[in-house]
Amino acid sequence: MSQPQRVQSQTDSQSQPQPLQIPPAELLAEYSAWTVQAPMVRYSKLPFRELCGGYNTHITYTPMMLSTEFSRSEYARASDFSTSSSERGVFELRRRRTAGWHDEAFEKHSQLTRGALIAQFAASEPVPFMQSAELIAPYVDAIDLNTGCPTSWAYAEGIGGALLRRPETVRDIIRTTHDRLGSSLPVTVKIRIDQDEKRTEQLIRNAVAAGVSLVGIHGRYRTQASTSPVNLDGVRLAQSFSDVPTISNGDAWSLDESLRIRDVTGCNGVMSARGILSNPAMFAGYNETPMECVDKFINLAIAYGLPFPLFHRHLAYMLESRMSKSQRLSWHTLHSIPGALDWIHEQPL
Ligand SMILES: Cc1cc2nc3c(=O)[nH]c(=O)nc-3n(C[C@H](O)[C@H](O)[C@H](O)COP(=O)(O)O)c2cc1C
Repeated sequence: MSQPQRVQSQTDSQSQPQPLQIPPAELLAEYSAWTVQAPMVRYSKLPFRELCGGYNTHITYTPMMLSTEFSRSEYARASDFSTSSSERGVFELRRRRTAGWHDEAFEKHSQLTRGALIAQFAASEPVPFMQSAELIAPYVDAIDLNTGCPTSWAYAEGIGGALLRRPETVRDIIRTTHDRLGSSLPVTVKIRIDQDEKRTEQLIRNAVAAGVSLVGIHGRYRTQASTSPVNLDGVRLAQSFSDVPTISNGDAWSLDESLRIRDVTGCNGVMSARGILSNPAMFAGYNETPMECVDKFINLAIAYGLPFPLFHRHLAYMLESRMSKSQRLSWHTLHSIPGALDWIHEQPL
């Protein structure tokens, strides 16, 4: 079977000092890493992940990929996944000495440490997930099972949110891959909380018993839209069921809010989807996307060959807070990357 496409970035370099490479669960449990970019279908592709990694995002996720397609089709692998040796951020992280986030909880000296990349897959049965894991293992730091996708087609296929109430299937999928790949590729899971706390507990305990190394917890029920406020008490309760590191997900729109979420939930990390889509520099403390971040995105998108519709959507999210109503209307009339670049150059933003 062929391998996924590997893209060389213009910034790939052999001359830099080599950072430590630590699996994501250990980054969260044993180092000062805690910021996470969520998996996002269409959006969390290579240029966007590399952009976020450059703005203090320690862990990034690919979009959800379909394990049945990925495991059997070279075409699916080439179109769904690409990476580069420079896509992960490199951070000065401090090793943990004790619990908590106060200064003394960490060693004085920091160590140059590479961020982690997690590939997320949808699966309804163990074998395609395991085969996808074997194929993608050389390129990523963990493989994640999606159990939260709420769309009706996902339910019809028995993937994503359909797994939330099938803890035995989740256990079997995780265990098969964990047993086959061991520590060479950790398995992680992203869940939504359930109105019935016992179901959340059963899902998490099954996943942990099967060998999952980290649990992402989206603090909304499977029937709730993203516009419903996140239930941080529910996330806090869910993380108490886990013996492995956890990430809180939902309504993280700024660095300050993320710090608060970390405190309130007791999770090791905080994951943002819509917040980081509109401001990829949020974990670096910016309250809106700085124009230098927009420029970096443009350079990465062009270097990696992002198609125009996606290029256009990303910039619409990033620039939304800077645009007037008439600018938004005129932005949506653009049809090409050169046209979009001229527009940005000419507009007062
Ligand atoms: C455009 C978009 C695409 C998404 N795609 C995925 C996905 O591929 N896998 C997944 O687990 N969740 C996906 N989600 C859900 C997010 O990862 C996250 O759980 C949800 O948006 C809540 O986080 P937020 O409140 O920070 O937006 C997606 C969300 C958005 C907005």
